[in-house]
Amino acid sequence: MPGALHQPRLSAEEIAARLADYKRQNVPTYGPKMFRPSYFAGQDVVDVAEHAFALFLKENWLYGRTSYPAVGVFEDEILASLLDLYHAPRGAAGSLTSGGTESDIMAVRSARARAERLGRLKSGANIVIPQTAHPAFDKGGELLGIEVRREPSRGHHLPDLEWIADACDDSTIMLAASAPPYPFGECDPVEEMAAIARKHECWFHVDSCLGGMILPFREAAELKPVAFDFRVAGVDSVSVDLHKCGYASKGISAIVYADRTDEQAARTVFENWPSGLYATSGIAGTRSAGALASAWAVMRYLGAEGYRERTKAIFGYRDKIISALRGIGAEIVGDPHCFHFNFLFHEVDMSVLVEELVREGWVISSSKQPDTIQLMVTAAHEHSAAPLAEAVEQVLRDVRAGKRAGTGQGAVYSKVETRDTVGAIRA
Ligand SMILES: Cc1ncc(COP(=O)(O)O)c(C=O)c1O
Repeated sequence: MPGALHQPRLSAEEIAARLADYKRQNVPTYGPKMFRPSYFAGQDVVDVAEHAFALFLKENWLYGRTSYPAVGVFEDEILASLLDLYHAPRGAAGSLTSGGTESDIMAVRSARARAERLGRLKSGANIVIPQTAHPAFDKGGELLGIEVRREPSRGHHLPDLEWIADACDDSTIMLAASAPPYPFGECDPVEEMAAIARKHECWFHVDSCLGGMILPFREAAELKPVAFDFRVAGVDSVSVDLHKCGYASKGISAIVYADRTDEQAARTVFENWPSGLYATSGIAGTRSAGALASAWAVMRYLGAEGYRERTKAIFGYRDKIISALRGIGAEIVGDPHCFHFNFLFHEVDMSVLVEELVREGWVISSSKQPDTIQLMVTAAHEHSAAPLAEAVEQVLRDVRAGKRAGTGQGAVYSKVETRDTVGAIRA
């Protein structure tokens, strides 16, 4: 493949046309048939987020509080809200990162730092996670030289607490639960897992990257609260992605710590080079302040009341879709606590069903063990229930009659890191 630098130059107009062309090849980032993650709460919210993003695009977040004081205001006001939302204890603190992966890696890093401070960091230090935990923990374990004990696959969407308890030993520095995990919509049993972590005196992290801006507003939809935050004894940290259901533009997440000592210990403060003090609270260095500004703007625009209203509407669309699918014989996996859920039909190859629905223009994902179709519901799905159920019923009929067979490819979360798809290997 020729490199971008060494092809004939394009004019600004040609580039604009080329970009528009490339954009047309993408699936829409949200819409009635788009059920992969898109976190859409309404065009008005997108407009507010994108305006703020564009306005602060050029400010370097790294120089906030010195050159760009607004950065400090945005950080403080966002974090104050999160501390409130999660009922953080006195002395709690948080920091903002570039995404859920960074927040979860920071949790592993902080757990290791605390174990080291307390003289509990042994060789064979490990973290224990359920089968459904995000790969961010494996990335963190690899980067930090910590063994990751991931529960083996058992074909069930909730963790086996007996396995979790047995996997923890006196070298375990962290146990993590997800509220909810990405592959299925039901939260891990946070209270029970916290009790296991307390017994082993290890760090307990709640990965609420997906649910952290939905779960606190469940009551607006008259749903029972789910225990996932600092009201559960033993929770040391909670991660939440503001670029997911905080509805900000991409590039912002948070980690909130029960104890500000852990937040302070997580900072990199460095002076021993010619350019003076370099201090960061996470892993990233230079980054645009656009996503930060957009998270602040959406919080100010929606307010808690707005998040409640949007959550209620999205739960309403979700429940209409669930009942339409149940009406054609689908089984819903577990008790979905957030905006996403999985369904299956018995005695049907679900990977074939996924492929055939994708062929019909539905943008959907699948999860394995149990083999299911996953739908992430947004504000764009107000009228999707009936057309989706009709499409599923039609394709199901064809698959059962052997008229469609697919290739059985199954679930793919992200392919970009497999080397041969990068296309930049020198022959
Ligand atoms: C539960 C959970 N944790 C962590 C992540 C990682 O987030 P990001 O892709 O923003 O790094 C995700 C992403 O979907 C997630 O669902």
